Amino acid sequence: MTDFPVARNVAKMQTSSTLKTAQIAGELRGQGFDVIDLSIGEPDFPTPEFIKQYAWEGLQKGLTKYTPTAGLRTFQESIAAFYAEQFDTKFSPEEIVATDGGKQALFNAACTLLNAGDEVLIPKPYWVTFPEIVNFCGAKNVFIETEETDFILTAEQVRGAITDKTKLLIINSPNNPTGRVIPPDEMRKIVETCAEKNVYVLTDECYLFFVYPPAKIFTSASLPEELRKFVCVAGSFSKTYAMTGWRIGYTIASEQWSKEMAKLQSHSTSHPTSFVQYACARAMENRADSMNAVNSMLTEYERRKNWLIPALQTIESFKVAEPQGAFYAFCDVRNLLGDRFKTSSDVADFLLEKAHILITDGEAFGADGFLRISYATSLENLQKAVEKIKNLL
Ligand SMILES: Cc1ncc(COP(=O)(O)O)c(C=O)c1O
Repeated sequence: MTDFPVARNVAKMQTSSTLKTAQIAGELRGQGFDVIDLSIGEPDFPTPEFIKQYAWEGLQKGLTKYTPTAGLRTFQESIAAFYAEQFDTKFSPEEIVATDGGKQALFNAACTLLNAGDEVLIPKPYWVTFPEIVNFCGAKNVFIETEETDFILTAEQVRGAITDKTKLLIINSPNNPTGRVIPPDEMRKIVETCAEKNVYVLTDECYLFFVYPPAKIFTSASLPEELRKFVCVAGSFSKTYAMTGWRIGYTIASEQWSKEMAKLQSHSTSHPTSFVQYACARAMENRADSMNAVNSMLTEYERRKNWLIPALQTIESFKVAEPQGAFYAFCDVRNLLGDRFKTSSDVADFLLEKAHILITDGEAFGADGFLRISYATSLENLQKAVEKIKNLL
């Protein structure tokens, strides 16, 4: 049998590191072990009942056919109206393209902008998919170190990294894996810095609503028009409304950029599922129920965080800062490295082997020496896990 001649663009992609751990976990479960999964990147809550009802309503109304590529008009209008009420934004429905999740939003935005040789700024640590998309486009990843500023990107760091080849900056705030949130004023300065140099900004806002006070929620969709024309917001229903399997998201960008993204999408997935778009549109119109659902999840994440962080801080050699958003604790385990463990990946492997706890190693996020612990799981699981980790380390 000849080897499959995989395309260069795909051959150089890394398979998601979570796949490896998921496989080991599956094997351990198969052997009857009680595995505690703290690698989860999705809410452990069900999709709110009213959204499921809306999807059923959409089916009954016969929304089972193609929709426009950029999405049902009602989807675009409801998002524009929701943002206008919630964040005082001014964009129009034409500036929205419905996508199959946040991932496609990011792909659409990058692929419609980047050419081979363009430089793309990505602050470290980053979400694993960002550099892969850039590589896929033939562009060049330029990473920005942010540890000095507690993993919160600053305009000054961006200014220092821009060259005449820089085309795009990709930001994710609230951040996966660090849980850090860029303050609104800094975010505005970052976009201003980019706009001055004709650099575009792709902001992944998939954890937008999961922010713990005093950190502040901020969407770049609320920036003034002259800045917004350089911005594409990648939004997603996945985390916000516990809808990961529904595959629905959107971009908010200038009409010109949106048209190009819709053109690209028309030759790939066409559009997200029709009755899912309908359900999301109705959910956005029902802002009270939507925000209630979001707030009750946020309250639960905060309760878990408030227990988890002090508990992790009692583990010797673990350094953990208070997350400001999302649902991850980002642990610095570099003090553990030496003879016993060479890398943070060794620590993660050890915890999996000895305690059957699944934790994501930071390496895939460009953060060797760190572990990401997800608290999108029950408090009981977190308590059991911390107890076991403490005993072992
Ligand atoms: C930072 C970040 N962006 C985007 C996504 C993709 O989300 P979606 O399910 O909407 O494609 C994820 C999912 O884990 C994520 O963590």
